[in-house]
Amino acid sequence: MKDTILVIGSSGQIGTELVMDLRSLFGNNHVIASDIRPSISKELLESGPFEIIDVMDQNRLIEVVKKYKVTQVYLLAALLSATAEKNIELGWSLNMQSLSNVLELARHKHIKKVYWPSSIAVFGPTTPQTFTPQHTIMDPNTVYGISKLAGERWCQYYYDKFDVDVRSLRYPGLIGWKAAPGGGTTDYAVHIFHEAIKNNKYQSFLSPDTTLPMMYMNDAIRATIEIMESPSENVKIRSSYNIAGLSFNPQELSQEIKNYFPNFEMSYQEDYRQEIANSWPKSMDDSIATKDWNWKSEFDLKKMTADMIKNLKK
Ligand code: SER
Repeated sequence: MKDTILVIGSSGQIGTELVMDLRSLFGNNHVIASDIRPSISKELLESGPFEIIDVMDQNRLIEVVKKYKVTQVYLLAALLSATAEKNIELGWSLNMQSLSNVLELARHKHIKKVYWPSSIAVFGPTTPQTFTPQHTIMDPNTVYGISKLAGERWCQYYYDKFDVDVRSLRYPGLIGWKAAPGGGTTDYAVHIFHEAIKNNKYQSFLSPDTTLPMMYMNDAIRATIEIMESPSENVKIRSSYNIAGLSFNPQELSQEIKNYFPNFEMSYQEDYRQEIANSWPKSMDDSIATKDWNWKSEFDLKKMTADMIKNLKK
């Protein structure tokens, strides 16, 4: 039987791109897009099914899973780091209850496979910051990071106790041109491109030397589909895998952008997100993902910047 996939949170930064790639792999009608709000992507709405789902509503989830005979769920709905700090109770309840609801679907055999993203935010101030290992100190101090770390343990628990086939990646900051990011600490790295093209200037909310792990969306989507399509025995870690793309700080990114817009002006005004960024790693060691399921990123700073500017200019 061919798999049918439900993507929850399909109107967001990752979902918008992931749905289209999954549709070209599995067929348009085998990939159900869903979100609490309608998608603004015409391409996504016209190419296949879309359902409004509040992921907190388990009955509604079961209804959609049964309606389309869904076999896999990609759960992308979440409050990101900056937004969650503004509303900690919603951050915690949405991020945890959504995961519980989907893992329960798998425990009761409504679905066969689950994808759930974790984040570099699971690490904290005393984690080694460069080349952060897969297994190390994890002391997140944001509600987002705490919910992601708890979520990782929840995934491992469902795998150990109930044999639930759940797979996960610790995404770094994600950069893409198709959809806007939604309330993260790494969002500056997307906004800067839009502002460079429109206004030739940008004010960064992170300091010039704040280096963070980042990844171009093409790599992130490919990693996601690759881990989901890997033979189960290759996916040895069932909490979440480190993956690495590139690392840079606002100053380095602005230098690169200046190669395209020589008069581009960068200024800096730190806000509360600086403290969040300070607690996160600067670069990641993803050698276990490479060993287990052959992961390798393709986009460096030059290649990413070129692709972003080419596509945003259109
Ligand atoms: N990009 C995310 C954030 O900044 C990290 O997972 O919240």
